[in-house]
Amino acid sequence: MMVGAQSPDGRRWPGIKGIWGHVYIDVTRELNLEALPEIHEEVCLALAQLPLDMTGGSHRSMGIMPASRVDEALVDYVEVIRSMGPAEVETLRSLADDPRAWEGVDPQSGDFGEERKVPLSRRQLAWLKVRHGVYFPWKGYVELIPNRLWTDKSSGTGKTFTRTAQAFFPKTIAFVKTLPFVEVGRCNVMGLEAFDYGTVHRDGDPAEQKDVDHFITIVPGGDKELFLWDETLQQEVRVNCQAYWFNDFDYHGVVTSNRFRYSIRVDGRFDPSFLERIERTWRGR
Ligand SMILES: [Fe+2]
Repeated sequence: MMVGAQSPDGRRWPGIKGIWGHVYIDVTRELNLEALPEIHEEVCLALAQLPLDMTGGSHRSMGIMPASRVDEALVDYVEVIRSMGPAEVETLRSLADDPRAWEGVDPQSGDFGEERKVPLSRRQLAWLKVRHGVYFPWKGYVELIPNRLWTDKSSGTGKTFTRTAQAFFPKTIAFVKTLPFVEVGRCNVMGLEAFDYGTVHRDGDPAEQKDVDHFITIVPGGDKELFLWDETLQQEVRVNCQAYWFNDFDYHGVVTSNRFRYSIRVDGRFDPSFLERIERTWRGR
């Protein structure tokens, strides 16, 4: 019995579960990617004009990093908030979009930020960065279809592209609508500044995974490099294609680079005929 998933060069990775025995699924040939050069121009122009969000500054406190790489999270905002005195907590609270949401919340609770009870405002994130040195790997983050909770990302019920997205990303949205989903529940631009890297983490606990979540990552500029991390072998497997799907319950991160780069991640539910087709292509290969 083969152990672990296989990379395109035929190597086996015991610490990576993958999809149908593969570290990742290259869907480049399954999609029409002709529009990517135009989309790249559109995304870059939009990123130049829009206020950008930041994300990913609390991977260590979320407990989603591999033990061997937790130091790479550098300064984590939940750890910072837990260490604050009353005056600093008050400064942070004053920067909230809705300071009342902070009433009765214990700073020690860790209930702040993404996936938590009290969301942090753009001003709060910025203050955590400039005053406390929090490291946000993704500083060029734009939500085209916002989601409050990670667990909502596959369902399109009651969701639309934001008005800002419709104004700045019309070609991108038209392209996303051509992708093989029966519903889209989340769509984000994930940009990283030069010299930043995406901290290694996983999006869920494999012990709790029933099926692999459906999503496609698109890299219009072709220069953002994701890798899967094998904690058993202590090695990275790089993904080098412009459109792919992987098991996000495997550890993954983004390779550093000397320039800004981004990808677009689209989550939802695949069209069953697309899923059958790629399964026929990849399973047992
Ligand atoms: Fe992730």
